[in-house]
Amino acid sequence: MDSTGSSDPRAEVARLAADLRAALERHARGGRWSAPGGASPRIAGSLEAPHVEAQAEAAQVEPAHVEVTHVEAAHAPVIDLAVDVPDAPPQRVRLTLAEVRAELGECTRCKLHETRKKIVFGAGSGQAALMFVGEAPGADEDRTGLPFVGKAGELLDKMIEAMGFARGDVYIANVLKCRPPGNRNPQPDEVASCSGFLDAQITAVAPRILVALGRPAANTLLGIDAPISALRGRFHDRRGLRVMPTFHPAYLLREPDRKRDAWSDLKQVMAELERLGVGPRPR
Ligand code: URA
Repeated sequence: MDSTGSSDPRAEVARLAADLRAALERHARGGRWSAPGGASPRIAGSLEAPHVEAQAEAAQVEPAHVEVTHVEAAHAPVIDLAVDVPDAPPQRVRLTLAEVRAELGECTRCKLHETRKKIVFGAGSGQAALMFVGEAPGADEDRTGLPFVGKAGELLDKMIEAMGFARGDVYIANVLKCRPPGNRNPQPDEVASCSGFLDAQITAVAPRILVALGRPAANTLLGIDAPISALRGRFHDRRGLRVMPTFHPAYLLREPDRKRDAWSDLKQVMAELERLGVGPRPR
C-alpha cells in the first residue's frame, strides 16, 4: 500500500504517467520546452522525469516510461505521448497559437513555398467557441497574409455576422497555409505537410464547434472522401469535437440558391452553441 492508499502498482504507474503528462502540458503552456535532462519533447525520444522516478521509487513500482514521439508524417507540432501503461490513450500536448506559428516558421515543407507570397496562418480569437476551416488561401489572402479577405471572405463575414458574431469572435483557418498556384485544389502531399498545423491550431483554440467550409476542409477534418452535399446538414464527430460541414462561400457566390441550405446548417450550429451556453454575446 502506498501513501495514496493504492495497492495496485499498475494504477500507481498510470497515475504517475498522468502527472507527467500534466507537467509536460504545464511546460508547454509556459513556453518552457526543455524536458528534464535537456531533451526537447519535440524530438523523438524518451523521457523519464526525475520526480516521477522518485515517486515511483517511493511507491515501489517501475517508473512511468513515456515515449515522446514527433508526428513525422505531417511535420506536426503536436506531440503524442504514448505511455506504456495498458489502456492509457495517447495524449496530445497543447501548444499556444503563437507556439504553433513559431513552429511553422518560414515553412518550406512542401512545394507551395516556392510560389506563395505570404503564409496565411489564421486569424481571430484564440479562445473562440466557433472555428471556421476553409481550403487554402487565394490571391487576396496570399497578398495580405490573412484568411478569407477576398470576395468569398466578404460573404463569410456576412455569414458570421448573421450568426450574431463579429469576425474577431471566431477563429478562421485553412487546411493549407500557402496558396496553390492558380487556386488549384490542394494536393495530398501538401495536405499531409500542413494538416498537423491545423490540428495544432484546433487543439490550441479548443473551439466547441468546427464549421468545415467545402469538401477539402470537411474531408481533411473528418479523414474521409465524400462530397460536401453528402456531409452537410448534420454534425459529425472529430475526436469528440462537433464538426458541421457546409458549402464553401466561394461556391455560394457561384450558386446563390444554395445559401438557404448553408444558412440552415449555420442555424444548427447557432442552436448547438446556445445549448452549450457559448452563443454570441448580446451587442
Ligand atoms: N478560400 C479559402 O478556402 N480560404 C481562404 O482563406 C480564402 C478563400
